[in-house]
Amino acid sequence: MQVITTIKDMNAFSKATKAEGKNIGFAPTMGALHKGHISLIGNSVEQNDVTVVSIFVNPTQFGPTEDFNKYPKDHKGDMKKLSNLDVTAVFLPDVAEIYPKGFSTFVYVGGIGCILCGASRPDHFNGVATIVTKLFNIVMPDRAYFGQKDYQQTVVIKKIVRELAMNIDIVVCPIVREDDGLAMSSRNAYLSDEERNAALILNKALEYGKGLMLSGREEKANHIKEKMGAFIKAESLVTIEYVEIVGPVYLENIKEVKTPAVILLAAKVGTTRLIDNMIVE
Ligand code: PAF
Repeated sequence: MQVITTIKDMNAFSKATKAEGKNIGFAPTMGALHKGHISLIGNSVEQNDVTVVSIFVNPTQFGPTEDFNKYPKDHKGDMKKLSNLDVTAVFLPDVAEIYPKGFSTFVYVGGIGCILCGASRPDHFNGVATIVTKLFNIVMPDRAYFGQKDYQQTVVIKKIVRELAMNIDIVVCPIVREDDGLAMSSRNAYLSDEERNAALILNKALEYGKGLMLSGREEKANHIKEKMGAFIKAESLVTIEYVEIVGPVYLENIKEVKTPAVILLAAKVGTTRLIDNMIVE
């Protein structure tokens, strides 16, 4: 596994790979790798000649009061996990390599970038769109792999790929959950035992909402959101940011229950913000 830290070397690697007629699968990450990341990488290894993984904690997608400085890091553990997979190269740039002094070009995502998580994290998706675009230009992948856990992010990335005419297939891989249902997330590392236990209410609420949607007894999405809200509120350590039922492609709010749809939620467990979702079809 090659470890590459500069844009120039990463670019040269990708050009040489393509010159050999090989295709490139790419899994962008912020490190602290867990089974969710491993499944993205596994899919890429299976479907491509060469797999590149990037690890870069992207400052532009964090708000001024968010957890950029304390975001979980596990360089040694990450390298060990990657070396056990069939990863060809890992791209590990530092912040100055990606955002040199004077950097001021951003990809702005209007519409769906400003709702749901974008409402409480105003520049988040602009930061994600900017780094993902830049990484795509550097790595030049044929396919790129993202987790369904960040559902809105996958919709935003598909939108920028479509609207900026990037020739890359976006592959969305299913959420990986712990045995007790908690969606895998690097931020789970922030939770105390008590909070981790409280966080289980999120997956349970999604299952409950899905059951109501499929029961045929509820016609109004609002009723289901209210019931899910009341269900989550029973857990005192959890504060809901939003529970929404939306269309899977454009994230428009659904009023009358129909499928396919996605139930999306964001909540604070203690001080840790978690997101989760469930596709209903
Ligand atoms: O999902 C993530 O880990 C990040 O948002 C991404 C896509 C690597 C961009 O920094």
